[in-house]
Amino acid sequence: MNNETAQQLIRLSLIHFRNYSEAEFHFCPKINCLAGDNGTGKTNVLDAVYYLSMTKSCLNPSDSQNIRYDEDFFVLQGEYLRKGEPENLYCGVKRGQKKVFRRNKKNYERMSDHIGLIPVVMISPADNSLILGGSDERRRFMNEVIAQYDHQYLNDVIHYNHAVEQRNALLKSPVFDREVLEVWNEQLIQTGNRIFRSRIGFCASLIPVFRQYYRQIADKDEKVELVYRSQLQEKDFSLLLRESFEKDRILQFTTCGIHKDDLLLQMDGIPIKRSGSQGQQKTFLVALKLANSDFIRQHCGITPLLLLDDLFDKFDARRVGHIVQLVSEDSFGQIFITHTGREHIETILKQTGCEYRLLETASGYLH
Ligand SMILES: Nc1ncnc2c1ncn2[C@@H]1O[C@H](COP(=O)(O)OP(=O)(O)O)[C@@H](O)[C@H]1O
Ligand SMILES: [Mg+2]
Repeated sequence: MNNETAQQLIRLSLIHFRNYSEAEFHFCPKINCLAGDNGTGKTNVLDAVYYLSMTKSCLNPSDSQNIRYDEDFFVLQGEYLRKGEPENLYCGVKRGQKKVFRRNKKNYERMSDHIGLIPVVMISPADNSLILGGSDERRRFMNEVIAQYDHQYLNDVIHYNHAVEQRNALLKSPVFDREVLEVWNEQLIQTGNRIFRSRIGFCASLIPVFRQYYRQIADKDEKVELVYRSQLQEKDFSLLLRESFEKDRILQFTTCGIHKDDLLLQMDGIPIKRSGSQGQQKTFLVALKLANSDFIRQHCGITPLLLLDDLFDKFDARRVGHIVQLVSEDSFGQIFITHTGREHIETILKQTGCEYRLLETASGYLH
């Protein structure tokens, strides 16, 4: 692996995190497989890795719900090597208190300052919500990827969301001040236009890579598409806001802007939700996430940690072999895979010829 772009989680310790009382894991630089029965905490380990990168869970938006039942705090600690340098991350959550996040013993003032230091991509069954859920899921997806390599973007999204909230409050208020509205409009336009341009750039460069991965995993050519949709493609944002003013006043919220964007996931010009089989949908999602990883590596100069949760559930053995072979190549870095069948995964891992480590999670095991 190239030292310049490599990062590696060497050791992870969990205290009172979900089903874990206390646990420590030592990982190898390439493929790490967590094997164990359902409910033994495989996904929880992957989510802990995600947490230390993104300062939050991939699965549960409430920090305190990740605290082990009957305890009042959790602590996650990770020891990394990043571009050859050691990094130590600490995340502590105590009920009723502000989350503490530290890099090399130094507290972050804003969690957002940390995003992008240790890039990560999670592939999990929950990705289904990208296909089945509303447009908010797909905006969240775009945000998650872009924020990891573009710091201005994350700040823009935070300011934009704040401005939408304030503008909506003003639209609801009985004392309406046009000048204050202009202030919020100005903020929306500035940040919204930048977010719009970032999303265009992101989608344009993601599409060819996504298609290539889809072809490789599906082993055939199918007409898959990602189509970015924004009202800002039709009209200038300031004009949109002016034109929708009366409507916004009546409805008492902001009806136009990049908070209405969507990313259409299509096959043969039809939403994949309707046109794709379950296997095609899953292939679509995995290709999308692998493309993300590629994208982040090229833009951050660091190869993201790749978390593959329950990848084996929906795929046949041949396709699983394909994917594992793909991610064992050098353009992917350290990988974490979960699986219930130890022997099955070991056979696949041996075939890659890569360095790998098997770690077992077990019920009744004293974590
Ligand atoms: N806050 C919590 N406190 C204690 N146990 C929890 C908490 N959240 C989840 N769990 C437990 O974690 C287990 C699920 O772990 P998970 O990582 O999803 O398992 P796996 O991926 O191996 O199937 C469940 O038994 C669940 O009850
Ligand atoms: Mg699981």
